[in-house]
Amino acid sequence: MPTMGALHDGHLSLVRLGKQRADRCVASIFVNPKQFAAHEDLGTYPRREDEDLKMLADAGCDLVFLPQPAEMYPDGFATSVRIEGLSEPLDGQSRPHFFGGVATVVTKLLNQVRADIAIFGEKDYQQLLIIRRLNADLDIGTEIIGGPIVREEDGLAMSSRNAYLSSVERRIAGQLNKVLRQTALKIAQGGDVLGSIEDGHALLKHAGFSTIDYLEARSGKDLTLLGPGKLTPEDQEHARVFVAAMLGRTRLIDNMKVTDV
Ligand code: PAJ
Repeated sequence: MPTMGALHDGHLSLVRLGKQRADRCVASIFVNPKQFAAHEDLGTYPRREDEDLKMLADAGCDLVFLPQPAEMYPDGFATSVRIEGLSEPLDGQSRPHFFGGVATVVTKLLNQVRADIAIFGEKDYQQLLIIRRLNADLDIGTEIIGGPIVREEDGLAMSSRNAYLSSVERRIAGQLNKVLRQTALKIAQGGDVLGSIEDGHALLKHAGFSTIDYLEARSGKDLTLLGPGKLTPEDQEHARVFVAAMLGRTRLIDNMKVTDV
């Protein structure tokens, strides 16, 4: 289970899944500099190593790998992994550096640990698809498993970045999942995709989100953009709605399968 630390129950749910599937579990904690742009939050990303280690031990994790940046990227490091297609839309648009950094570090971690199974959360659904792709394309041979999104009571997907939210922002943040759910429901009920997405945009703005990076319906298989018009039954089966929005300086993401609403 690769992580960047500041662990919460979303991360621990992956450890629990791992415990069901394997004899021994390894987690990694590495705040990967290559997946942050210069203007992003690498310097302030929450670091809580002692608490993380205790949480992992309590969850029954057998080994924790905590590499230093200089071990992962020694002088002369020159390779990067780029996934075509899948890394272009959604977060690839708003964070162009991001998936190259993720793919490079995850390739290294999979090769270093050589686990039978690696587990990633559906919270970062595009990341999960990219990791499945690189694992297959580069013959790494690890089985990649996706774990369901763990949420707070008001629906907000758990995230280490939720710690940045002020109490006012935290109240607004719950609206992200509500609007996502409403949009997915309209689409599932045969509503016009673009109309449903436009309504969702207006609701997010009204709730107080400053920038909406995307609110889109795409195929959960290959991220093909869906709509306009209503979905065909085949599209409906794999359709997911994806959202990313800024609340003050905090960027929040979420996604949902339309048939799960
Ligand atoms: P991080 O954000 O720490 O997340 C580590 C893993 O936990 C990812 O697979 C992520 O999808 C999963 N996760 C996070 N929040 C979750 C939630 N609420 N429910 C279920 N799973 C959740 O994602 C990364 O780190 C990095 O990009 C990484 C893959 C470690 C590469 O650096």
